[in-house]
Amino acid sequence: MPSLDLPPHFRFGVATSAFQIEGGWNADGKGPSIWDTFGHTSGKVKDDVPGDVACDSYHRHRDDIALMNALGLDTYRLSMSWPRLLPEGTGRVNPAGVAYYDQVIDDLLSADIQPNVTLYHWDLPQALEDRGGWPNRDVAEWYAEYAALVFDRFGDRVNRWATLNEPIAIWAGYGEGFFAPGRRDAADGRQAMHNALRAHGRGVQAFRAAGSPGEIGIVLDIWKRHPKTDSPADIALANAGDDDGFRFFFDALLGGGYSDRIRARLEADGTMPEIADGDQALISEPFDYLGLNVYSRVVVDSEKNDGTKWAQSDPFPGGNFLDNGQEYYPRAVFDALELVRDDYGWSGPIHITENGMTDGPASAADPLDDDERIRYVRGFLEWISEGIRAGHDVRSYYLWSLMDNYEWSAGFSAKFGIAAVDPATLDRIPKKSALWYRDLIAAHRATRTSQLVR
Ligand code: BGC
Repeated sequence: MPSLDLPPHFRFGVATSAFQIEGGWNADGKGPSIWDTFGHTSGKVKDDVPGDVACDSYHRHRDDIALMNALGLDTYRLSMSWPRLLPEGTGRVNPAGVAYYDQVIDDLLSADIQPNVTLYHWDLPQALEDRGGWPNRDVAEWYAEYAALVFDRFGDRVNRWATLNEPIAIWAGYGEGFFAPGRRDAADGRQAMHNALRAHGRGVQAFRAAGSPGEIGIVLDIWKRHPKTDSPADIALANAGDDDGFRFFFDALLGGGYSDRIRARLEADGTMPEIADGDQALISEPFDYLGLNVYSRVVVDSEKNDGTKWAQSDPFPGGNFLDNGQEYYPRAVFDALELVRDDYGWSGPIHITENGMTDGPASAADPLDDDERIRYVRGFLEWISEGIRAGHDVRSYYLWSLMDNYEWSAGFSAKFGIAAVDPATLDRIPKKSALWYRDLIAAHRATRTSQLVR
């Protein structure tokens, strides 16, 4: 196991997203998002619980900031809700939405916590879904209008932005249907993925046009597929999983276009998106940093392939497992750093924008006792240290998540927080891992100071 040894300039944070924590789903002029509609539709979310209240951060963001302050965090990754700012997706601005994010940003800055803001973390305005949603090529212009508004109102105070979080979720929503808006059409799903990349390019352009200080990037997740054996069938399955999961995005963003292997498969499936002249140049718009979300890897076994792209995994027998059943493979983050350098030539700044795990049965007796999470986070930080020693420019780490929150189709059943949320009072209660993280950050801060003194 590599040692945990992070340089003085390294920064620590936590991540959340608007829909997962804010609640206030129809408060003060907010429009509905596709996740509101999805959560209000029976059979879509575990126990049919919608995200109407979530952690109520719309009314309690000061509690969130007080907790972050107590933990000594340097930075907070949050997202903005597009329909809170533009209830119809385009056009009319909701002043109460602008006022809310103004307040959140100002309160973070007063607490000396740097905001890192994602424009889109999956909650498309329902009004835009009604106009065709992500498969409609016009979405890139709708997104550009939203981005211009955000940079105009908040660009002076936020120094790190991300255009999109994990655009693969858009495939899950349009190609497979287990995320909002629950459509299941592979051709629409591929077009939606392509359009998301075009929207990203328009977002970067809007950022440059606004002349905002700070930097902009995109957040992608890498769940690297590992073939269980070196059989051609296992290798082909691993490649297909990587192509669908993350290479589609990386190829276009950093590799000059979708690979021949991806194109051949989409042609064969009849799901090749419409790619217009100029699309690839737009998608290749240079951005400033790469955000990587890394949770684990997936080991694929062609003998267990049931044909659904998300169910091909079979962990190595004898592997090291967390008590929630997920394989403990902290090297995943190191592998991801190597991959973006070796396969895509990325040598710019990297932020690990998400990493975390759900509570397992061991936490059932005492929800605040989460030793497994400490083991998990520590392992990933050790492998990030190793990545930095190997020359990767990793600048910060965001633990997913500040508190137990609305875990999409899993509702409240999957708990990723370093703080629990009391279901009756909605009080935030730090778990053991929060206190451990606080101490780790304090120890790191001491190294920063001693460097200054020297
Ligand atoms: C997403 C989060 C989600 C987390 C845990 C990430 O893929 O960005 O929204 O809660 O994983 O599943």
